Amino acid sequence: MEEERSLVLVKPDGVERGLVGEVIGRFERRGLKIVNLRMLTMSRDMAEQHYAEHKGKGFYPGLIDYITSGPLVAMEVAGWQAIRVVRAMVGATDPVEAAPGTIRGDLALLKGENIIHASDSPGSAERELQLFFPGRGWWL
Ligand code: RTP
Ligand code: MG
Repeated sequence: MEEERSLVLVKPDGVERGLVGEVIGRFERRGLKIVNLRMLTMSRDMAEQHYAEHKGKGFYPGLIDYITSGPLVAMEVAGWQAIRVVRAMVGATDPVEAAPGTIRGDLALLKGENIIHASDSPGSAERELQLFFPGRGWWL
C-alpha cells in the first residue's frame, strides 16, 4: 500500500461525452497527482492484453468492441493508497449499483458504457501501466 500508482482510462464513451476534464478534476481535487497522460485508440491486440482476465466471458467480445471504438485517455494516477482510493472514487462496475458521489454513480448509467477503468490491485496496476506507458520510469 502507501504511495501507489494506478492506471486509469477514460473510456471512449467518456471521451465522446466530454468527461475527461471532469474525471481528471476529481482526482486532482482529491489530492492525487496525474504523472503520465496520453490519448490513443487501442488496437484489438492491446485491448485483448488489457482485458485478458475476461477472455471467454459472455461480455468479452462486446467489451473489446467497446474499448477499441474510439480514442481514450490513459493516465497514471499517483498518491497515498492510490489504487484503493481511485477504485472507491470510480464506484461499482454497474453504474446502477454505483453510489451517488462516485464517478460512475454520478456520470454513467449502463454497465457496458461505464466511462472509466481503474486498476484493481498493485499487480494489475504494474502490468497495465507497462502496457500503456512502456519503459516508464520510477522517477516520475
Ligand atoms: P474496469 O476493469 O473496466 O475498470 O471495470 P471493473 O473492474 O469495475 O469491472 P470488470 O469486472 O473488470 O469488467 C471490465 C469491464 O467489462 C464490462 N463489463 N460488462 N455486461 C456485463 O456483464 C459486463 N461486465 C463487465 C464493463 O465495461 C467493465 O468495466
Ligand atoms: Mg476490472
